[in-house]
Amino acid sequence: MPSFDTIIRGGTVATAADTFACDIGIRDGLIAALGRDLGDADRVIDATGLLVLPGGIDSHVHFAQPSGPGIVMADGFESGTRSAAFGGNTTVLPFCVQQKGQTLREALKAYHAEAHGQCYVDVSFHLVIADPTDQVLGQELPALVEDGYTSFKVFMTYEGMALSDMEMLQVMSVARRTGALVMIHAENFDAIRFLVDKLEREGHVAPRYHAVSRPIPVEREATHRAISLAELVDVPIMIVHVSNGEAMEEIRRAQAKGLKVYGETCPQYLVLTEKDLEGLNMEGAKYVCSPPPRDKDSQEACWRGLETGVFSVFSSDHCPFRYDDPAGKLNPKSRTSFRWVPNGIPGVAARLPILFSEGVSKGRIDLNRFVALSATNHAKTYGLYPRKGTIAIGSDADIAIWDPERRRTLTHDLLKDGSDYTPYEGIEITGWPVVTMVRGRIVVQDGELVGEKGFGAYLAREKSPYAAPRREF
Ligand code: URP
Ligand code: ZN
Ligand code: ZN
Ligand code: ZN
Repeated sequence: MPSFDTIIRGGTVATAADTFACDIGIRDGLIAALGRDLGDADRVIDATGLLVLPGGIDSHVHFAQPSGPGIVMADGFESGTRSAAFGGNTTVLPFCVQQKGQTLREALKAYHAEAHGQCYVDVSFHLVIADPTDQVLGQELPALVEDGYTSFKVFMTYEGMALSDMEMLQVMSVARRTGALVMIHAENFDAIRFLVDKLEREGHVAPRYHAVSRPIPVEREATHRAISLAELVDVPIMIVHVSNGEAMEEIRRAQAKGLKVYGETCPQYLVLTEKDLEGLNMEGAKYVCSPPPRDKDSQEACWRGLETGVFSVFSSDHCPFRYDDPAGKLNPKSRTSFRWVPNGIPGVAARLPILFSEGVSKGRIDLNRFVALSATNHAKTYGLYPRKGTIAIGSDADIAIWDPERRRTLTHDLLKDGSDYTPYEGIEITGWPVVTMVRGRIVVQDGELVGEKGFGAYLAREKSPYAAPRREF
């Protein structure tokens, strides 16, 4: 009997800490040996000249979310996790969104039913708290944290989703009591409503005004307020999808004070700008997301945040709609005003090639920082480490093999999602994932889907080590 199911031979292995030449022996879905001359295996993968990295973990994606009357999200769990695998990801963390009047258990039942049997990579859910009733705060949330739903997202904007400061404090104090991590969408709801109304009155309705209606102060103020509220409760928080230097500075300052404030940024804030929203004939709708892409200075600031550790995770915020679809970005109502264009853009497959190419290949970040930002820190932040997010004996054999020299021009058909465009069309990439392996099984190899739908498993998570209370509140 061979000693291993698979040996990956001859590659350069990198973790968040080290880079070293070694072979990997895989048995029963786990990494069983690291070294040389490991013996024989049913299958040997020759990784000579290639990088062997932990599979990407994208801790911020949206699949199968109800998105408003007549609007349909472009990815469910099948196409969303397929696209994730094509982009070198082995785990994704989508959101289970509570609707007003719904219990969290009801919401979870619906999302689990959508996901069941559909996934190509492993999946776990964050809970979006849109209706923090006494029942939700007092009973449901504490029980769900114990069941492995150890992170919540709250919104400071969006009709039907935005929480008041009082409600934010209430959710934060439940997180504090239960050891959950709170993710925050930080934009000032009233400021946005005020600006949207004003722009519409002035006849400014094209997609580009989406960016004008959500300028940097809207995000900076909310980021500052979220941090202040978290400081009052003494609870760790993650500010998601940070788009610019002013919001980043708020986080940096909080970190320097010793507050447990974590930050995330996304590819749209590194390679897009608000100019992209100016396209003719509504083309700008393809880039409508919140916060909006900004300018070159903001891009540089986001890079600085990634390089210096202010941002510990880099996620896609994949939130896909079809452009040429009556139920998508160009639905009849969205042609009347940017107000009605669904917010969000696809990116789960483009995230890592963009970070690798713009970051590692161009020398802005090293390989270890790439691994930390793409996998390890996501696993640590959200209670999946060391089962996920690293290459170590006993960890799941979730591995992406990268060809650092492979050149590609990003086009939508490479990405295999359910949308009909990519906002990253035409970007030149150096470095590409050539094999994606989940728990020892190859899901994507050389641009071919070879995995099995339904192999992706649901992951109950541990509490985030970053969310441990420091003292009683
Ligand atoms: O525009 C965006 N980002 N849509 C997705 C929902 C969210 O706020 O993350
Ligand atoms: Zn199931
Ligand atoms: Zn958000
Ligand atoms: Zn999002």
